[in-house]
Amino acid sequence: MTELSFIHRFEPTTDAKRPPLLLLHGTGGDENDLLGLGRMTSPGSALLSPRGKILENGMPRFFRRLAEGVFDEEDVRFRANELADFVAEARKAYGLEAPIAVGFSNGANIAAAMLMLRPEVLAGAALLRAMVPLSQAPDVDLAGKRVLMISGAMDPIIPAENAKRLAASLSASGAGVQHEILSAGHNLSQTDLQLLVRWFAE
Ligand code: MLT
Repeated sequence: MTELSFIHRFEPTTDAKRPPLLLLHGTGGDENDLLGLGRMTSPGSALLSPRGKILENGMPRFFRRLAEGVFDEEDVRFRANELADFVAEARKAYGLEAPIAVGFSNGANIAAAMLMLRPEVLAGAALLRAMVPLSQAPDVDLAGKRVLMISGAMDPIIPAENAKRLAASLSASGAGVQHEILSAGHNLSQTDLQLLVRWFAE
């Protein structure tokens, strides 16, 4: 694997019409976690899958938190920029277009932060079980970016109101947001996969 600033996995494209995916795992996951989901979601897409650099009791994450659902926002900003720099590096090293992020939980939250802080890095994002990453949404232009958010109505970690606030904030910045709320908890379900496949096919 090419030496870049994040430990990562990369799978080259086998279908140039498909956009590259940036796969961002949840707390305690790693760079291998979402490869299968990425292959099923958009067969033939190049897959770029970094491992978060923060360790919380040995569990990799993409930024620090003070408690569950309470983020160290200074770290969110720092880490979103660091990850955006990695994506730029990887695009050069592997010859990629701007990727679409597919993030789960903590990975979805860092993807939302990147959209707000470094919008040029991503072509769009699928945010699975995401919440508001920054209490003060930066003034940003997301026109032309598609965002799929899939939330769980029974998610014990993410209040429904919080997910709705994130969807509203991304829409207000100009993104084309589709927000689906499933009768599910924090874990992903078969319906998440079906919605992802459909959204990527559109
Ligand atoms: C986060 O810390 O990003 C969210 O609380 C979700 C999680 O990773 O558990």
